[in-house]
Amino acid sequence: GTPSLHEVYQDYFLVGAAVNPITLKSQQELIIKHFNSITAENEMKFERLHPEENRFTFDHSDKMMSFAKEHGKKVRGHTLVWHNQTPDWFFTDEEGNLVDRETLLKRMETHISTVMGRYKGQIYSWDVVNEAVSDSGEDLLRDSKWLNIIGEDFIDKAFEYAHKADPEAALFYNDYNESDPEKREKIYTLVKGLVDRKVPIHGIGLQAHWNLTKPSYDNIRQAIERYASLGLQIHITEMDVSVFDSEDKRIDVVEQTDEMKEAQAERYQHFFELLREYSDVITSVTFWGAADDYTWLSNFPVRGRKNWPFVFDENHEPKLSFWKIVDFDNGK
Ligand code: G3I
Repeated sequence: GTPSLHEVYQDYFLVGAAVNPITLKSQQELIIKHFNSITAENEMKFERLHPEENRFTFDHSDKMMSFAKEHGKKVRGHTLVWHNQTPDWFFTDEEGNLVDRETLLKRMETHISTVMGRYKGQIYSWDVVNEAVSDSGEDLLRDSKWLNIIGEDFIDKAFEYAHKADPEAALFYNDYNESDPEKREKIYTLVKGLVDRKVPIHGIGLQAHWNLTKPSYDNIRQAIERYASLGLQIHITEMDVSVFDSEDKRIDVVEQTDEMKEAQAERYQHFFELLREYSDVITSVTFWGAADDYTWLSNFPVRGRKNWPFVFDENHEPKLSFWKIVDFDNGK
């Protein structure tokens, strides 16, 4: 039979999948067998949990938490402070004007303490701040309402509130293009500042939205080593491996070719060799989905184009990519 992915990796790290209310049903069997950690793809984001100032909507995230409890899965929380998927009310007053620093900090604290407090002790790690670093140019931080209204210390404050809300949870800074040398140095600089100021941060999340050509294995290795030099743990938080290379903008691909399958399998094999090599610092590896029947990448970055980024196919059967990551000499 097919081995369980998380069992194969039990001596290395947790193996997680992002889920949503639909896949939690349609991919239930697969998730139960192969993953020992789950993350809400969208349901624990600001707009889903906190649509209005005095109204929280926990139905979907509560359901996910009961599923986790029932099946003995751990939960990674995603995400508390982000420039995206945060409703406008949060930054404005009744007249529609931007609120001041104190008001926004108060609202941030209320959001964090309410959400983390509800699941206190049940979520092993949280992406406290997501994608705050700018992709290019001189600026360290991305332009956002958080930054403009509160100032640079919005990140420190978010971690402080989070630590107060659930002192047991491991608190993460999470970002993409994390292996690109230029962005890597910015992320390093930001997090080093937090560590130096004794802000309660415990890890760095590498989203790992990777593809057939990028990033290079060397860049990934350098990123892991650079981040680990801060003495923090590392999680791979949103892994998927697009079957296209970075330059491929075709929209007429309706099926995976054998070439794509083989190229992806080779990438997966090397990625997981690397991750195993660093399993003393990498404590959790989460895929941004579970099987090829559902992925946010079908539509991104090219509208209307499908993608097949996981190690299970559309029928939830293991792909060549799966065999390449479970078939290794376990010297442990
Ligand atoms: O639920 C609504 C539906 O009612 C509506 O009809 C439809 C029309 O657009 O939109 C649906 O919401 C979409 C939602 O996904 C659920 O499918 C949103 O438009 C869409 O923007 C949203 O995309 C999510 C994206 O974050 C938002 O930025 C993706 O599912 C989710 O996979 C993605 O996840 C992010 C991580 O949180 C952070 N890192 C990058 C990663 C990939 O972009």
